[in-house]
Amino acid sequence: MTNSRAYALEATGIERRFALPQDKLFAPKRFLHAVDGIDVRVREGETLGVVGESGCGKSTLGRVLIGLDKADAGTIAWGGSPAAAHTGAVQAVFQDPSSALNPRRSVGDSIAEALPKLSQRARNDRVAELMGLVDLDEQLMHRYPHELSGGQQQRVCIARAIASDPTLILLDEAVSSLDASLQMQVIELLRELQERTGAAFIFISHDLRAVRGVSDWIAVMYLGQIVELAPADEFDDQLRHPYSVALRSAEPSIPGDPFVAERIILEGDPPSAVDLPVGCRFASRCPVAQKRCFEEAPPLESDDAGRAIRCHFPGSLQLTRRHEKESQQP
Ligand SMILES: Nc1ncnc2c1ncn2[C@@H]1O[C@H](COP(=O)(O)OP(=O)(O)OP(=O)(O)O)[C@@H](O)[C@H]1O
Ligand code: SF4
Ligand SMILES: [Mg+2]
Repeated sequence: MTNSRAYALEATGIERRFALPQDKLFAPKRFLHAVDGIDVRVREGETLGVVGESGCGKSTLGRVLIGLDKADAGTIAWGGSPAAAHTGAVQAVFQDPSSALNPRRSVGDSIAEALPKLSQRARNDRVAELMGLVDLDEQLMHRYPHELSGGQQQRVCIARAIASDPTLILLDEAVSSLDASLQMQVIELLRELQERTGAAFIFISHDLRAVRGVSDWIAVMYLGQIVELAPADEFDDQLRHPYSVALRSAEPSIPGDPFVAERIILEGDPPSAVDLPVGCRFASRCPVAQKRCFEEAPPLESDDAGRAIRCHFPGSLQLTRRHEKESQQP
């Protein structure tokens, strides 16, 4: 089946590196390669999830993709235009709602920040409508952030983000500070909002379960690169990159979930993003690495459907299903 929706975001060859402080005046400059050659495309009305360990470059990529930070290389177009990020068409919601909201600004004023100039009455009507969309009681319009719970504050941030009818919203760890049941509620809310508004989402999280709950496609990142890009439903058991398989195996099971994978423990830490290895960046931790992996970097290979993988030996590490009862035995 072909997908005829337009792209809300198309980015190619994105690189972002940070210069390290120089210890000696004439020493050669050294760089930390936070994002190292990433291509992403997100269609209108779809969610691209981005998952990977802390420090792999998710937030740096997100900031560059919405124009909050400048790439050192690569091209980005939002809805076909290289300028849309500066028109309110691109918005973001971050992890900590209390620091994202001005403590001296009421809920109504915070949400209205992104609205065009309107009469007081029209403004209040629009704010009340937006509050309704995120399930916030409009009575809270005149309250201040410290009078709200974390979940309510995050709904205010989401209402503010959708106020300008954006075509793309970055959600960077947007549910990570909420408890599990609130996370599910906010994820459900995001899905509904997406259906209503047709906005595209980039949903960043270190938590694969949350990413799987909300995404159409998922990009797995490792040390500044995408190592696997796959439709979210393949994340049950059709993953082919050893790192994705290890991440999936570590996902906690929920009661009644028939799929319980034997956990694959990864030893050690990722290599330095300053002195990158010659071969596969995952080789030092990969349970199925071979000699070639340490000598030759695997390219990201894509098929016609857009599924992509970066591995010399894809599929050589498999998830082992276990019956839930067995998994609970000491
Ligand atoms: N402004 C900066 N200056 C220097 N290094 C930076 C800067 N921002 C990020 N980095 C480095 O870039 C790498 C990627 O950081 P980033 O915040 O993008 O990771 P992340 O995947 O979002 O991690 P987390 O899951 O912890 O949020 C890290 O090594 C980080 O230390
Ligand atoms: S290329 Fe080799 S080391 Fe890298 S993920 Fe594949 S099997 Fe593992
Ligand atoms: Mg981050």
